Amino acid sequence: ELSLKGRDMIELDEYSTEEIQFLLDSAIEIKRKQKNGEVYQPLKGKTIGLIFEKSSTRTRISFETGMFQLGGHALFLSKNDIQLGRGEPISDMAQVMSRYLDGLMIRTFGHDNVVNLAKYASIPVINGLSDMAHPCQVLADLQTVLEHKGKLKGLKMAFIGDGNNMAHSLLIGGAKMGMHVALASPKGYEADAGIVKLSEDIAAQTGGSITITQDPIEAAKDANVIYTDVWASMGFEEEQAQREVAFADYQVNEELVKAAKPDYLFLHCLPAHRGEEVSEGVIDGVNSVIFDQAENRLHAQKALMVALMA
Ligand code: CP
Ligand code: NVA
Repeated sequence: ELSLKGRDMIELDEYSTEEIQFLLDSAIEIKRKQKNGEVYQPLKGKTIGLIFEKSSTRTRISFETGMFQLGGHALFLSKNDIQLGRGEPISDMAQVMSRYLDGLMIRTFGHDNVVNLAKYASIPVINGLSDMAHPCQVLADLQTVLEHKGKLKGLKMAFIGDGNNMAHSLLIGGAKMGMHVALASPKGYEADAGIVKLSEDIAAQTGGSITITQDPIEAAKDANVIYTDVWASMGFEEEQAQREVAFADYQVNEELVKAAKPDYLFLHCLPAHRGEEVSEGVIDGVNSVIFDQAENRLHAQKALMVALMA
């Protein structure tokens, strides 16, 4: 039996295809248990600290609720309410928190904050979103596609929009699972070149592929999954107006999805700006699975916490 005990979750590239599949299978089983009303508390007596430097609806609620359901306790630690906001070094904080807690989650701007926290903490550290990556979201996304399509390998997943944290984690997670990931971004908003290279190397091992283009129709062509995210992520709000111009041709709307497979799934990590990156018709349409996706944050993160912390 595969064990992930004590590991960190900084980005999905550190996990093998088999380990990601294990987490997805476990998430589906944990979801089944919860729907059946079965009590499942392998984290009784354990505590996770949730450090937030940015806003959150889904991540906070799903981690807090998930930990409670697993028999443990979660602490919400907002940056300005802990000494981090006054400049306590991450290295000290990591070592102190490791004396109290059994696990940590951090949502932060700089990805190096996640890396440093994991470096100095002796307990598992989970990336709850950085400017580079959002692996917990992608676990839930992969679970959602698997539930709706029965498989991941060989499916085409198109991401239309900013080459941001979501694009990065989808490139890596999709490649790990043997998917064909196509990313269409406007000039100047491309994904990180190092992440693209990494995902290409992964895809070469798994039978997947990576396509990087500026053409949304090329990306969406025959796609099984169409994914988008806001044009201006947290921390980039002041660029909203200039981004609306740059991304004007990148809206996922009724016209664009004609290029996809008729039974395509629409995914969005949320929060969404309806009428910007996605039309109301698409996000509220019959192909949209955004609420299954949001729900699966709970199940996927429960699986992750059990795997790392039980
Ligand atoms: N998708 C996501 O991470 O949502 P929140 O920012 O609300 O946590
Ligand atoms: N790319 C978005 C995702 C939010 C869940 C952001 O970083 O704000």
